[in-house]
Amino acid sequence: MTQEQTLKTLIDGLNDDLAGEYNAIISYIQYSARVTGPYRPQLVQFLQAEIPDEQRHAQYLADKIASLGGTPVVEPRPVKTSDHTREMLHFIYEAEAETVENYRQRIDQAEAAGEIGLKVQLEEMLSDETTHRDETKKMLDGWA
Ligand SMILES: [Fe+2]
Ligand SMILES: [Fe+2]
Repeated sequence: MTQEQTLKTLIDGLNDDLAGEYNAIISYIQYSARVTGPYRPQLVQFLQAEIPDEQRHAQYLADKIASLGGTPVVEPRPVKTSDHTREMLHFIYEAEAETVENYRQRIDQAEAAGEIGLKVQLEEMLSDETTHRDETKKMLDGWA
């Protein structure tokens, strides 16, 4: 790959990540409004606590895409909705697990492009998403 292609691949990947972060923000807002059942207070707190993380990730990605000469996307990945709390948590688990894999790939692409500052930031974001994924998994595992 030429340097130019390497950079384009990275920018396209970051834009896909940005669409995923928008999706996460919208999902957490919508789900926190709709969760029902005996665990609603804890779930509302859990979901709303993740929104600032995802917003920070989205802002960082948008800034970085623009710095690299790209245009940040404005459309989220399609948001899945459900009437059932457990299914909402399952959607969150799937999305967070996918995000961890995407950032793992993006870290390699950032390194290939010589963008080490970006790589370090992506590692921190991967760490945040891993916590989100694992906490969601624990809730699902104990669901009656
Ligand atoms: Fe995120
Ligand atoms: Fe997350």
